[in-house]
Parts: sequence; structure tokens; C-alpha cells
Amino acid sequence: MSSPVLWYATRTTGLVALVLLTATTLLGILTANRAVSSRWPAFSVQDLHRRISVITMAFLACHILTGVIDTYVHIGWTAIVVPFASSYKRLWVGFGSIGIDLLLAVAVTSHLRHKMRPGTWRAVHWLAYLSWPVALSHAFGMGTDMGQRWVTVLSVACIAAVAGGAMWRVSLAARRKSHALAFVPVHQRPPGVPVKHLSA
Ligand code: HEM
Repeated sequence: MSSPVLWYATRTTGLVALVLLTATTLLGILTANRAVSSRWPAFSVQDLHRRISVITMAFLACHILTGVIDTYVHIGWTAIVVPFASSYKRLWVGFGSIGIDLLLAVAVTSHLRHKMRPGTWRAVHWLAYLSWPVALSHAFGMGTDMGQRWVTVLSVACIAAVAGGAMWRVSLAARRKSHALAFVPVHQRPPGVPVKHLSA
């Protein structure tokens, strides 16, 4: 089956999925370490993170189905989860498959979370962060619309959002660490920690 409707659907749902995946990733970064403000309690940000991740998976399902059903190019069903199995744009479809595999691993372990050790669950959940740059590479390599100005602006906004969130989290962790160290007696502090920095 081949039709322009399927092609438009693949492109639209792909872009929506990328924006939603960006939002999921950003919310994940913001909720880690309970790093939220009083206006946004941790539980509400976590709830939003979970809900948007479910909607992301729904859009991804539509994106992949329309892409594979459209026989204008041959991708094949196995290429959905088996990286580099597609004869069409092997490398870039392969990145999409890796993104899906990572997200499926995160989704399955999130359902089994109560049966898993927290450390194991967290280690798998970290894969979710990896899925974002992988999906972005897939989008840049595959996207018909990537040359358009508004899609470039959208992509830059996605990159800025995740990079900004990551920098904020790293600086927050550093501030918390130095704040915690300020309560450690001087003789127990690790060597090389400047006293001026600790009192800031
Ligand atoms: C994390 C998973 C994925 C995300 C976030 C994602 C997102 C995207 C985005 C944003 C585009 C560019 C749309 C455009 O500008 O035209 C795209 C293109 C495409 N994707 Fe994905 N994708 C993912 C996985 C997959 C998988 C697993 C497949 C198939 C096995 C696939 C098939 C396609 C195809 C065929 C196109 C080209 C559409 C066109 O002709 O422009 N994607 N994807």
C-alpha cells in the first residue's frame, strides 16, 4: 500500500513524537533528585513526565506503522526493532530502531519496577536519556522536512531545551554538594575543597 497520506502521517507523527520525547526527557531531567520548585511539586512533574511518555509512545507507534505500511520504500517489519535491518536508509532507520529498543526497555522495566532492585531499574531508566540523541540523529538523517526553516527552529529549540535542562541539573547537583560539604567539619572535608567555595 502506498499513498501520500501515509507519507504525510509518518512525517507529522515523527515530528510530534520528537517534540514529545524532548518534553519527556526534559521533565525526566527536572524531576531527578527532586529538583523542582515550590510552584511545581515533584509529584506533579513526575506525573506529567509519565503521561507525556505514554503519549510519546502512541505517536511513535503511528509513526512507525505508517512508515512501514507505506510500500513506496521498503523498510520491513523486522527493522522496527532490529537495528540496520532495513534496506532503505539502513543507517538512519537503524538509529530509529535503536531509539525504539531503548524506549521499550525503559517502558517494560517501568511496569516491572516494583519487582526490580531500585539500582537496576535506575540503570535501565538512564537508557531513556540515550534514546533522545539517537532519535534526533534518525530525524536529521531521515527527515524530508528537516530542510525547512520552521523544522530547523523546532530542532534547535529541542536541543536547547535538553541542553539547558542538563546544565541546570549539573549546576544544581554541584551547588547541593558544596552546600552539604559546608556542614562537614573542616578536618573531615576532602582535600582540595576551597574553604571560600564552601562558605558561598
Ligand atoms: C525514537 C524513535 C523515533 C523517533 C523519535 C522518530 C522521529 C522521526 C522524525 C522527527 C522524522 C522526521 C520527519 C520529517 O521531518 O519528515 C522521522 C522520519 C522517519 N522515520 Fe522516524 N522516528 C523514530 C523511529 C523510527 C522507526 C523505528 C522507524 C521505522 C522502522 C521510523 C521510520 C521513519 C521514516 C520512514 C521516516 C521518513 C519520513 C520522511 O520520508 O520524511 N522511525 N522520524
